[in-house]
Amino acid sequence: MAKYRIAWLPGDGIGKDVLDAAKIVLAKIGLDAEYLPGDIGWEFWCTEGDPLPKRTIQLMKDTDCAMFGAITSKPSTIANSELIPELQNKGYVYRSPIVRIRQKFDLYICKRPCRAYPGNPLNYKEGIDIVVFRENTEGLYAGVEFFPIPDEMFNIKGMEKVPKDAAISLKVNTPKGCARIIKTAFEFARANNRKKVTCVHKANVVRATDGLFLKKFNEIAKDYPEIEPDNANVDSLCQWLLKRPFNYDVLVAPNLYGDIISDLCAQMVGGLGFGASANIGDDYALFEPTHGSAPKYAGQYKVNPIATIIASRMMLEYLGEVDAARSLEKAVEEVIKEGRVRTYDMGGNATTLEMAQAIADKIS
Ligand code: NAI
Ligand code: MG
Repeated sequence: MAKYRIAWLPGDGIGKDVLDAAKIVLAKIGLDAEYLPGDIGWEFWCTEGDPLPKRTIQLMKDTDCAMFGAITSKPSTIANSELIPELQNKGYVYRSPIVRIRQKFDLYICKRPCRAYPGNPLNYKEGIDIVVFRENTEGLYAGVEFFPIPDEMFNIKGMEKVPKDAAISLKVNTPKGCARIIKTAFEFARANNRKKVTCVHKANVVRATDGLFLKKFNEIAKDYPEIEPDNANVDSLCQWLLKRPFNYDVLVAPNLYGDIISDLCAQMVGGLGFGASANIGDDYALFEPTHGSAPKYAGQYKVNPIATIIASRMMLEYLGEVDAARSLEKAVEEVIKEGRVRTYDMGGNATTLEMAQAIADKIS
């Protein structure tokens, strides 16, 4: 029996292209793993009314971790009309599978490394090396939303300010939820000799939830005296990141800010083709590129697989395969530095699989 069992979830569009690329690299690494394919994505919404079928959740429960490609999501107005006729108007509601997985498996850490690999023509500036830790289970993604707002909610003090026809999305931050992501960011900083952790918030306006996040940050920072604690309002941070990217090292943020900031950081180091994401909990983890299914490129094997290959590297680290992770990282570095094999986004014409093969060839 293989040492590891890995749920293999390509999903929609280019999700399949980039996971095929990851397979090439993992095969060369010689990871002793069994890859178990699972159903996820738009197709299963249309035919079963659920883009994340129960059998896929079970598959994940039976594996060590998952590799995920991407899924297509559409607004709820469109979603119902794309169901097969037998399922239409039966009350099926589309909910993002990836958000559901994060919550169901309590994958509270979202780690997104943003490193400008030397020689990447897409770098905003050489030398950027930022790691974003995004809270992954609560905040504005808690899924507590009302539209229309039930009448009884208007009995709560403060609700008199809210018009009857408003929509409400509740932001939910818990002390536990804030503390565990902040601790993770500091622990990472300590283990990797990082100098500074910046808390991303808007506590001067969003006083309750962001106030709690910042309070927990200030408390926890005291346990890490060797690391400089820093904090910034999310809006000003966006301009400072562009102006002085080298002032930033590790960022820790509540869910939505973390989502936004990590795309900004990804763009500074080459765009979506370089943005990788590890979703980690105490018992399970899922690794993915941050990009979506890019339907216009689906099946063309044209997009950049590096984001997914970086995600595979984080999977190796999670599994404790540290040497394999290091040699994969080195191979990615070398291919980017040489600049001979480049996908279209980098100004070249290599295919997804050629890029993966070039990286695999560097692994000794
Ligand atoms: P997208 O990330 O799929 O693609 C936007 C554009 O970015 C592409 O057209 C392409 O030009 C570029 N791009 C994306 N990945 C690339 C890669 N690996 N290499 C080179 N270029 C790349 O975002 P879009 O078009 O907004 O969404 C398409 C679908 O994906 C939607 O249904 C959306 O809901 C879904 N989505 C899913 C995500 C997930 O599965 N985690 C995340 C984001 C969007
Ligand atoms: Mg995002």
